Amino acid sequence: MKIGIIVYSQTEHTYSVATKLKEKLLAAEHETEIEKVIPIGEVQPRQKEVKFENQPNVNAYDALIFGSPVHAFALAPAMKVYLEQIQSLQEKKIACYVTKNLPLNWTGGSQAINAMKKICESKGGSVIGTGIIVWRGGREKQIANLVDRISSLF
Ligand SMILES: Cc1cc2nc3c(=O)[nH]c(=O)nc-3n(C[C@H](O)[C@H](O)[C@H](O)COP(=O)(O)O)c2cc1C
Repeated sequence: MKIGIIVYSQTEHTYSVATKLKEKLLAAEHETEIEKVIPIGEVQPRQKEVKFENQPNVNAYDALIFGSPVHAFALAPAMKVYLEQIQSLQEKKIACYVTKNLPLNWTGGSQAINAMKKICESKGGSVIGTGIIVWRGGREKQIANLVDRISSLF
Protein backbone atom coordinates (compact mmCIF):
# COMPACT_ATOMS: atom_id res chain seq x y z
CA MET A 1 0.00 0.00 0.00
CA LYS A 2 1.26 3.47 -0.83
CA ILE A 3 1.01 5.58 2.31
CA GLY A 4 1.51 9.35 2.56
CA ILE A 5 2.38 10.82 5.94
CA ILE A 6 1.41 14.45 5.64
CA VAL A 7 2.49 16.69 8.47
CA TYR A 8 2.47 20.26 9.55
CA SER A 9 5.23 20.86 12.09
CA GLN A 10 6.70 24.14 13.34
CA THR A 11 9.28 22.84 15.77
CA GLU A 12 9.73 19.27 14.42
CA HIS A 13 7.88 17.38 17.19
CA THR A 14 5.12 16.22 14.86
CA TYR A 15 7.66 15.60 12.10
CA SER A 16 9.83 13.42 14.34
CA VAL A 17 6.84 11.15 15.04
CA ALA A 18 6.28 10.95 11.27
CA THR A 19 9.85 9.71 10.73
CA LYS A 20 9.27 6.88 13.24
CA LEU A 21 5.98 5.96 11.58
CA LYS A 22 7.71 5.92 8.22
CA GLU A 23 10.45 3.56 9.49
CA LYS A 24 7.87 1.13 10.84
CA LEU A 25 5.70 1.24 7.71
CA LEU A 26 8.72 0.72 5.44
CA ALA A 27 9.72 -2.29 7.55
CA ALA A 28 6.20 -3.64 6.92
CA GLU A 29 6.90 -3.19 3.18
CA HIS A 30 4.55 -0.28 2.58
CA GLU A 31 5.76 2.32 0.15
CA THR A 32 5.79 5.37 2.43
CA GLU A 33 6.62 9.04 2.01
CA ILE A 34 6.54 12.02 4.34
CA GLU A 35 5.40 15.34 2.92
CA LYS A 36 5.28 18.64 4.76
CA VAL A 37 2.47 21.17 4.70
CA ILE A 38 4.34 24.49 4.54
CA PRO A 39 2.40 27.73 4.92
CA ILE A 40 3.67 31.05 3.60
CA GLY A 41 4.76 33.20 6.53
CA GLU A 42 3.80 32.84 10.16
CA VAL A 43 0.32 31.56 10.93
CA GLN A 44 -1.41 32.87 14.05
CA PRO A 45 -3.66 30.65 16.19
CA ARG A 46 -7.23 30.73 14.84
CA GLN A 47 -6.16 32.38 11.58
CA LYS A 48 -8.83 31.65 8.96
CA GLU A 49 -6.95 32.18 5.71
CA VAL A 50 -3.66 30.46 4.96
CA LYS A 51 -1.63 30.37 1.75
CA PHE A 52 0.81 27.57 1.11
CA GLU A 53 4.36 27.22 -0.08
CA ASN A 54 3.84 23.43 -0.15
CA GLN A 55 0.42 21.80 -0.29
CA PRO A 56 0.93 18.00 -0.66
CA ASN A 57 -1.25 16.21 -3.20
CA VAL A 58 -3.15 13.31 -1.60
CA ASN A 59 -4.06 11.69 -4.92
CA ALA A 60 -0.72 9.90 -5.08
CA TYR A 61 -1.58 7.73 -2.05
CA ASP A 62 -3.88 4.82 -1.17
CA ALA A 63 -3.82 5.71 2.50
CA LEU A 64 -2.89 8.75 4.53
CA ILE A 65 -1.65 9.71 7.95
CA PHE A 66 -2.14 13.35 8.89
CA GLY A 67 -0.12 14.84 11.76
CA SER A 68 -0.36 18.30 13.31
CA PRO A 69 0.38 20.22 16.49
CA VAL A 70 -2.38 21.59 18.72
CA HIS A 71 -2.43 25.39 18.69
CA ALA A 72 -4.56 27.43 21.11
CA PHE A 73 -6.68 24.44 22.23
CA ALA A 74 -7.52 23.59 18.63
CA LEU A 75 -6.15 22.07 15.43
CA ALA A 76 -3.30 24.27 14.10
CA PRO A 77 -4.87 26.52 11.43
CA ALA A 78 -2.34 25.57 8.73
CA MET A 79 -3.44 21.90 8.95
CA LYS A 80 -7.12 22.85 9.27
CA VAL A 81 -7.06 24.98 6.11
CA TYR A 82 -4.92 22.41 4.27
CA LEU A 83 -7.43 19.63 5.05
CA GLU A 84 -10.38 21.85 4.15
CA GLN A 85 -8.87 22.52 0.73
CA ILE A 86 -8.48 18.84 -0.19
CA GLN A 87 -11.08 18.01 -2.84
CA SER A 88 -11.70 14.36 -2.08
CA LEU A 89 -10.56 11.61 0.29
CA GLN A 90 -12.97 9.08 -1.15
CA GLU A 91 -11.82 5.44 -0.74
CA LYS A 92 -8.83 6.45 1.41
CA LYS A 93 -7.98 4.90 4.75
CA ILE A 94 -6.81 7.62 7.10
CA ALA A 95 -5.16 7.93 10.50
CA CYS A 96 -4.71 11.25 12.31
CA TYR A 97 -2.46 12.24 15.18
CA VAL A 98 -1.59 15.42 17.03
CA THR A 99 1.25 16.45 19.31
CA LYS A 100 0.72 18.90 22.14
CA ASN A 101 2.52 20.17 25.19
CA LEU A 102 -0.03 20.40 27.98
CA PRO A 103 -0.91 17.19 29.84
CA LEU A 104 -4.49 17.98 30.84
CA ASN A 105 -7.36 16.51 28.84
CA TRP A 106 -9.13 19.75 28.04
CA THR A 107 -6.11 21.44 26.45
CA GLY A 108 -6.99 20.84 22.83
CA GLY A 109 -5.98 17.27 21.88
CA SER A 110 -9.46 15.81 21.49
CA GLN A 111 -10.76 18.99 19.94
CA ALA A 112 -8.01 18.93 17.30
CA ILE A 113 -8.49 15.22 16.57
CA ASN A 114 -12.26 15.66 16.28
CA ALA A 115 -11.75 18.53 13.85
CA MET A 116 -9.37 16.44 11.68
CA LYS A 117 -11.76 13.50 11.74
CA LYS A 118 -14.76 15.63 10.82
CA ILE A 119 -13.02 17.29 7.87
CA CYS A 120 -11.60 13.99 6.55
CA GLU A 121 -14.99 12.27 6.81
CA SER A 122 -16.70 15.21 5.09
CA LYS A 123 -14.40 14.51 2.10
CA GLY A 124 -15.38 10.84 2.03
CA GLY A 125 -12.32 9.48 3.88
CA SER A 126 -12.50 6.62 6.35
CA VAL A 127 -10.71 7.50 9.60
CA ILE A 128 -9.52 4.20 11.05
CA GLY A 129 -7.27 5.45 13.86
CA THR A 130 -6.27 8.50 15.86
CA GLY A 131 -3.70 9.39 18.49
CA ILE A 132 -2.55 12.18 20.78
CA ILE A 133 1.06 12.61 21.97
CA VAL A 134 1.70 14.84 24.99
CA TRP A 135 5.22 16.11 24.46
CA ARG A 136 5.94 17.06 28.04
CA GLY A 137 6.83 13.94 30.04
CA GLY A 138 6.94 10.28 29.02
CA ARG A 139 6.59 10.93 25.34
CA GLU A 140 8.90 8.12 24.15
CA LYS A 141 6.52 5.45 25.37
CA GLN A 142 3.50 7.26 23.94
CA ILE A 143 5.25 7.61 20.57
CA ALA A 144 6.22 3.92 20.50
CA ASN A 145 2.62 2.93 21.30
CA LEU A 146 1.19 5.26 18.66
CA VAL A 147 3.63 4.03 16.02
CA ASP A 148 2.77 0.37 16.77
CA ARG A 149 -0.94 1.01 16.86
CA ILE A 150 -1.21 3.19 13.75
CA SER A 151 1.18 1.19 11.58
CA SER A 152 -0.74 -2.02 12.34
CA LEU A 153 -3.90 -0.48 10.81
CA PHE A 154 -2.56 -0.55 7.25
C1 LIG B 1 1.02 29.14 19.09
C2 LIG B 1 1.05 27.85 19.87
C3 LIG B 1 -0.08 27.44 20.57
C4 LIG B 1 -0.08 26.23 21.31
N1 LIG B 1 -1.21 25.84 21.97
C5 LIG B 1 -1.23 24.66 22.64
C6 LIG B 1 -2.43 24.22 23.31
O1 LIG B 1 -3.47 24.86 23.28
N2 LIG B 1 -2.38 23.03 23.97
C7 LIG B 1 -1.25 22.27 24.05
O2 LIG B 1 -1.28 21.21 24.68
N3 LIG B 1 -0.09 22.67 23.41
C8 LIG B 1 -0.07 23.83 22.72
N4 LIG B 1 1.08 24.24 22.07
C9 LIG B 1 2.26 23.34 22.08
C10 LIG B 1 2.39 22.53 20.78
O3 LIG B 1 1.18 21.90 20.43
C11 LIG B 1 3.46 21.41 20.96
O4 LIG B 1 4.67 21.96 21.34
C12 LIG B 1 3.59 20.60 19.67
O5 LIG B 1 4.19 19.35 19.98
C13 LIG B 1 4.44 21.32 18.62
O6 LIG B 1 4.55 20.53 17.47
P1 LIG B 1 5.55 20.86 16.27
O7 LIG B 1 6.94 20.87 16.86
O8 LIG B 1 5.37 19.77 15.31
O9 LIG B 1 5.18 22.21 15.75
C14 LIG B 1 1.11 25.44 21.35
C15 LIG B 1 2.25 25.88 20.64
C16 LIG B 1 2.23 27.06 19.92
C17 LIG B 1 3.47 27.49 19.17
